[in-house]
Amino acid sequence: MDTNRRTLLAAAAAGLTAVAAPGTAHARGNGAGGRRPVREVFGTLADGTVVHRWTLANGGTRMRVLSYGGIVQSLELPDRHGRYANVSLGFDRLEDYVAASPYFGALIGRYGNRVAGGRFTLDGREHRLSVNDGPNSLHGGEAGFDKRVWDVSPFSGPSGVGLVLRYVSADGEMGYPGRLDTTVTYTLTGDGDWRIDYVATTDRPTVVNLTGHTYFNLAGEGSGDVLGHELRLAASRYTPTDATLIPTGELAPVAGTPFDFRRAERIGRRIREAHPQLVTAKGYDHNWVLDKGATRTPGYAATLRDPGSGRTMRISTTEPGTQFYSGNFLDGTLAGPSGRTYRQGDGLCLETQHFPDSPNKPHFPSTVLRPGETYRSTTVHGFSAR
Ligand code: BGC
Repeated sequence: MDTNRRTLLAAAAAGLTAVAAPGTAHARGNGAGGRRPVREVFGTLADGTVVHRWTLANGGTRMRVLSYGGIVQSLELPDRHGRYANVSLGFDRLEDYVAASPYFGALIGRYGNRVAGGRFTLDGREHRLSVNDGPNSLHGGEAGFDKRVWDVSPFSGPSGVGLVLRYVSADGEMGYPGRLDTTVTYTLTGDGDWRIDYVATTDRPTVVNLTGHTYFNLAGEGSGDVLGHELRLAASRYTPTDATLIPTGELAPVAGTPFDFRRAERIGRRIREAHPQLVTAKGYDHNWVLDKGATRTPGYAATLRDPGSGRTMRISTTEPGTQFYSGNFLDGTLAGPSGRTYRQGDGLCLETQHFPDSPNKPHFPSTVLRPGETYRSTTVHGFSAR
């Protein structure tokens, strides 16, 4: 969306701006800068660590981020009439994130999605990971990057307004080899895009697959399910899974199946079909193989649109895959900031990534990182309302 329009929309929503006003005169001037992010105390962990919440706003997009897990606690976007809503599922209180969060808004590492049996062999040596999902290791194990407190530094400059989050994971943490030094940069650009840049280095050969786990509901969290959202995924193949959601290794064509989102389709159109893959996962919970493959610069991956509000999100990424998870395990036991409970399908994730279980699938794009190399991954979420 062009900056002027975003600034107008932001002004229309001025009532929302408790901490920092989205779309400042500065943003209109150079299309990039904005006010420096503002910090407040969000809560305290059992060990006494203080967790902060940062508020960022630029180009008409407003976001709140926690130092715990790098969690996006809220993401506020205007609809086609300039009315704002928080389009990400989450909680009001730190205790709820600590007690039982299904990775709401969190940074995921060291390995996004599952590693079969919680083990892999690299350079002839077997590594055993923390197992936290049936027989498998999910999202980095029991205490992944979503449960770590990150060092956060704010910035505002030509690229936009943002936060640099850093976490150093010790050699052997959750069973992963190598000391992994990870930096994640969240930037809100002058156009209101949300860009995530992941960078990591290691001192021993290891595997890495970082992603973000925001649950989107473009109609607003607590407003019901996302089955009416339209989704497009630029992928002709996906990776079917076994009963524990580990890829079988096959790259199956989406043509003629409920997995075909090459043209925008309503998510609910085929989700209740008795396709064996939908039955196993209780909906969509699969990795789509992006036709563009892994790229040096972000390439088009997906578009999500809520026809009711007009809010639209366009995702570009350097990654070769995207996990589309339709919130299948939300079961009405968690309530969001709106006070309403989250039930199956009330939010969805689009996690840009390398494929699940790549460390055990030599024919999948490699997730190996060696000393002297730099892991880089970028995903851009572009927002508009039409
Ligand atoms: C996975 C789901 C998992 C969810 C955790 C998704 O990325 O694909 O299988 O249940 O994260 O809430």
